Amino acid sequence: MPEVNMSVSLAGVPLKNPVVVASGTFGFGREYGKFYDLGELGGICAKGLTLRPRMGNPAPRIAETPMGMLNSVGLENPGVDAFIAEELPFLRQFDTKIIANISGNTPEEYGIMCEKLSAAGVDLIEVNISCPNVKAGGLAYGTRPELAAEVTEVAKRHAGRVPVMVKLSPNVTDITEIARAAEGAGADALSLINTIRGMRIDVDTRRPVLKMNTGGLSGPAVLPVAVRMVWEVRRAVRLPILGMGGVSRGEDAAQLMLAGASAAAVGTAMFADPFAPLRVRDGLAEIAARQGLSAVSELTGAVLPFS
Ligand code: SIN
Repeated sequence: MPEVNMSVSLAGVPLKNPVVVASGTFGFGREYGKFYDLGELGGICAKGLTLRPRMGNPAPRIAETPMGMLNSVGLENPGVDAFIAEELPFLRQFDTKIIANISGNTPEEYGIMCEKLSAAGVDLIEVNISCPNVKAGGLAYGTRPELAAEVTEVAKRHAGRVPVMVKLSPNVTDITEIARAAEGAGADALSLINTIRGMRIDVDTRRPVLKMNTGGLSGPAVLPVAVRMVWEVRRAVRLPILGMGGVSRGEDAAQLMLAGASAAAVGTAMFADPFAPLRVRDGLAEIAARQGLSAVSELTGAVLPFS
């Protein structure tokens, strides 16, 4: 099969291929780095950071579901300073792009983190306004256009030359309202979707399976929701999109790209198979070659109307 150019651009950041690993599913790469060269990935989105270290929510905070999983981790992380001092130097050894994911309790906290991460030299900052598992910040910012705009504007003001990508929640009536607000406030890219709020109950104990009662659903079950939302957002704004939600095969990533994503992230699939991102990359290359494309980027937004 002919060689396909696998490189893409996300908010001006060149990726060697469109496959990124999703925040919260890859830690800071140390464990996965034992399986393969992390430089094979298009980009690494590191575990979500907060201004100060967090223990996260009490266990149980992970539960399997049909075709997916629920998590209520609650942003456990060592804090932005520890990331910069201890994890970023490790990640920097690999020939890939590093995306820092941040969550704040206030817009000011987002600003402080952007300043630190920009000075530290990350390639992109993913502004998480969509974590469903924390009381302050998180989803509160991602469900109200005016707050989404405020956080985006503060992040942009403090991020210097590092592009800002806003991570959107599917837990809204109309995701395009939030996408437009982020675009209007200067976002350079959007990522979607974060997890969908869900719940599981143990019928014998009659208690929720997760200590926090609810959590975020991810995995193959959410792929059609992600494809639909990427398609809607693509038609509403001009920003590049990192699509995610249930990607485990090249065909899944291709669907997100056809719907409008410039790149696709693999997340939950890696818990079952650490090599999933490489399989997705190779699957995408095969699809592009089979369709006679010279560049995988030709898939972006190329979905055809039904009739
Ligand atoms: C978590 O740590 O609770 C998940 C983060 C997220 O969904 O944004």
